[in-house]
Amino acid sequence: MSLFRTKSLDDLVASAQSIHGLKKVLGPLDLMLIGIGAIVGTGIFVLTGTGALTAGPALTISFIIAAMACAFAALCYAEFASSFPVAGSIYTYSYATMGELIAWIIGWDLMLEYGLASSAVSVGWSGYFQSLLSGFGIALPKALSAAPGAIPGVETWFNLPAFLIMLALTAMLSIGIKESVKVNNLLVAIKVAVVLLFIIVGYKHVQPANWQPFAPYGTNGIFSAAALVFFAFIGFDAVSSAAEEVKRPDRDLPIGIIGSLAICAVLYVAVSLIMTGIVPYRDFLGVDHPVSLALQRANENWFAGFVDLGAILGMTTVILVMIYGQTRILFAMSRDGLLPQRFSKVHSRFGTPFFATWLVGIFFGLIAAIVPLNVLAELINIGTLAAFSLIAVAIIVLRRTRPDLPRAFRCPAVPIVPLLAIGFCITLMTFLQATTWMAFGIWLLLGLVVYFAYARKRSLLS
Ligand code: ALA
Repeated sequence: MSLFRTKSLDDLVASAQSIHGLKKVLGPLDLMLIGIGAIVGTGIFVLTGTGALTAGPALTISFIIAAMACAFAALCYAEFASSFPVAGSIYTYSYATMGELIAWIIGWDLMLEYGLASSAVSVGWSGYFQSLLSGFGIALPKALSAAPGAIPGVETWFNLPAFLIMLALTAMLSIGIKESVKVNNLLVAIKVAVVLLFIIVGYKHVQPANWQPFAPYGTNGIFSAAALVFFAFIGFDAVSSAAEEVKRPDRDLPIGIIGSLAICAVLYVAVSLIMTGIVPYRDFLGVDHPVSLALQRANENWFAGFVDLGAILGMTTVILVMIYGQTRILFAMSRDGLLPQRFSKVHSRFGTPFFATWLVGIFFGLIAAIVPLNVLAELINIGTLAAFSLIAVAIIVLRRTRPDLPRAFRCPAVPIVPLLAIGFCITLMTFLQATTWMAFGIWLLLGLVVYFAYARKRSLLS
């Protein structure tokens, strides 16, 4: 039974209450900006290309399906976030509700979400950075422009810009520079502005003939693309991590989470419609900057340059959020004894988990340099979808085992909403490739080996 030993829920609630020293200043609009800052990135700026190849112009429908999966999961997330605003996100919640083994699996799984997502977004960043450089007539040697096998028919070895941006941001985070709310708001404004610019400028160049046939690969194509572009919505959980600073969590958290998801869904639907209306979907083969490519095709080179610049700035914030999130998960797991103590050691001068930050930055920077984006995105998605399903299960469990627990926000219509979340997430998972499932299986197996060989004995609960 020790596998299912739990942290005391009441301790967790108490510690959540004791850290309420933080000022409660955030309202619904701030939360939406935090959400959009973490959400809009490589998914819309890069993966839409592969998505269009998979679904055709019906990619629009894929975005709607992926958004619904996220919305149901987000409602479950919000209940946890508002009840225990503590570090470590769903890893911590599940430790208190479903026991150590499940918590370990979720924590291990989250490494696929945050760590690999920082790699994936760096790859997207690199594509736009190179597109911008090419506007100035500068081209990197092909071998250093992408991961091996990333561009069909081109010999590539190492994605140098992706590696370097990871190192640069790691250096910043390791000495404690985090973007402030003001910087985040500015970057979000720029990011949303270039997306709107794309919609307004691109709209005039749409040729409706490109939308025919609308769904060349049928439902299968639509769902496969949804399973891929699900990536574009990852990050809304950043909203829940701000839970303890929210003025009225019961009202503002769901508005922040659902609001940022809804805004992004609308933007994504518009962008995908216009993109596939300007460029025939087949032309996105091997393209790593599809949004600006569409404007280049429309001879709007100036605007394409703006989109490149905005995308680069926008993706930078997403990478920061992801590296930061990853180090905090390691921190929480290490503090519980499940990972070596070095991971939660705080630097005496900088006050940051210095070692963990550099480890994450270098490791996932190398991954960014040598693994192609589509492979990364599928792996991240399977890990995140699995974690979301478990969180939905946890909501149902907690309602039965601890109906008395105070909850600032309650997920509506339990168990229907959690069951819908589970249904959507598992359906999307089945549309991911067999190799993704295999890699995910190996990762989980490795996690179990580490758990039984190391973590179980070192756990503070043991
Ligand atoms: N949703 C984030 C992005 O698309 C991870 O970059």
